[in-house]
Amino acid sequence: MSHCFTLVTTLTLSLFGVYAHSALSNDLNKRFAAIQESSLARLQATLPEPLWNYEKATTREILAAEGSIKEITRIQVFDQRTERVIIEISLNGTTRSPSNGHWAPVVREGPLVWTESEGGREESIGRVVVTFTPEHIEASLRAQLFQRVIEVLILDVLLVALLVFSLRMVFRPLHQLRDALFDLAGNSAEIASELPDSKFSEFSEVVRGFNLTMRKLRDLIDRHAAAKIEAQEALQKLKKTQSELLRAEKLAALGSMVAGVAHELNTPIGNAMMAASTIDDCAQKFDQLRATGVTKSGLESFLVSIRQGAQLLLRNVQRAADLVSSFKRLSGVSDDTKRGTFELHEVVQSVIRELAPVLKASPYVLINAVPAGVVITGYPESLREILRALISNSLTHAFEGREQGTMRFRYEELDAEHITLIYRDDGIGMTPEVMNRIFEPFFTTKLGRGGSGLGLHIVHNLTTGLLGGGIDVSSSPGQGCEFQLRLPKDVPEAGPVGL
Ligand SMILES: Nc1ncnc2c1ncn2[C@@H]1O[C@H](COP(=O)(O)OP(=O)(O)O)[C@@H](O)[C@H]1O
Ligand SMILES: [Mg+2]
Repeated sequence: MSHCFTLVTTLTLSLFGVYAHSALSNDLNKRFAAIQESSLARLQATLPEPLWNYEKATTREILAAEGSIKEITRIQVFDQRTERVIIEISLNGTTRSPSNGHWAPVVREGPLVWTESEGGREESIGRVVVTFTPEHIEASLRAQLFQRVIEVLILDVLLVALLVFSLRMVFRPLHQLRDALFDLAGNSAEIASELPDSKFSEFSEVVRGFNLTMRKLRDLIDRHAAAKIEAQEALQKLKKTQSELLRAEKLAALGSMVAGVAHELNTPIGNAMMAASTIDDCAQKFDQLRATGVTKSGLESFLVSIRQGAQLLLRNVQRAADLVSSFKRLSGVSDDTKRGTFELHEVVQSVIRELAPVLKASPYVLINAVPAGVVITGYPESLREILRALISNSLTHAFEGREQGTMRFRYEELDAEHITLIYRDDGIGMTPEVMNRIFEPFFTTKLGRGGSGLGLHIVHNLTTGLLGGGIDVSSSPGQGCEFQLRLPKDVPEAGPVGL
């Protein structure tokens, strides 16, 4: 940059120099011409009189006086008639020979005419030849040129020095700023140092801005770090709360399950106890009868009572046993250990056969649209239990109070390892609220009317647990219900069985 500036300055100064030089040269040339004119005119005016009167001394004096002008090198006076030099004076001997010098001498001449002062008669007496030299013009021009060059050089040197100095003043803080910025970008803000205050007001503003920005950045990083720690703490707390909630929820679920189980078992066990005490009563009465003597009718009525009591006892104990068996499945662990390979169509068909007496007595239709030849390795009894629960729900919930209804099993290939068994009924369907809760244990819309709320919970547990699959349901009120069971073709072997 400094080179450019110096070049421009030098060029400008040189141009000015050239202009000034040519102006001066013009000026000097004009002056030179004027000197020539006036000198010649003076000689023409003063010389004729002494020449006419042959006053040699005066003539010489005039010539000498004129010759004191430093531009004049020679004055010659020629005679009119003889054309010979009458008088000559060589002055201001030139240092250089005019012939090989830079300048050529200028020779001017004029006629010398004598005029009579009274009569006005004019007489031509000769001519004067004056040789002028531009040596002095050239010298002063040269001197001026030299002076200009020196001026330009000094100015250039001064300018360059000034420029270098001021650029250094500007660049040093700029470099510092650049280094600090790189430092800041490369390292973290904690390590980067602040800039020292600058002597120049412009830079001190920039430095102040930089330091301010850095302080803000540090502040921001600090706050960010603090916020991160806070967020982590909050996350920890949240996780803790979540696990606590989960535990509480599990406990609550367990509590309600225990309450449900107790409630469910209460009726059959109460009934069984009642039946047992009835039998006991009968036995005591029979004992008393034995002392007085047993009649035939007494024996018969005793037997009837005992049989009725035993049947009641048996029914209720059976109900209790059934309940215990379903509770066992609540845990998702089935006691079905019979793993085997079976045909899906055949399993569906076996359930239909089982339910045939019930289905025949009803107006409802059950269709098995599963093609023959779909072979699965898994737990067929658990699958049967699932199908039974689904069918039973359609009969008790979907078709309740309806004249007709259709249930259908379909099959779809899901991928190489899975199949989908689809069960659909065209019954009353479910509201979204009900649909969201159907898999919950003890959720039933038939509380106190034979519903236990365990059917679909067991279906879900068996499907996702023992059978290693998944279950989806879609339904809306009036549109029936569809259950999609995604099952692996090869169900993995179950672990040890337990409650
Ligand atoms: N096919 C269906 N159509 C309409 N509602 C159904 C159907 N299957 C189940 N539900 C609803 O889901 C609830 C839970 O079913 P489930 O777990 O088998 O218990 P439960 O049959 O003892 O009521 C039922 O009470 C019923 O409201
Ligand atoms: Mg049910």
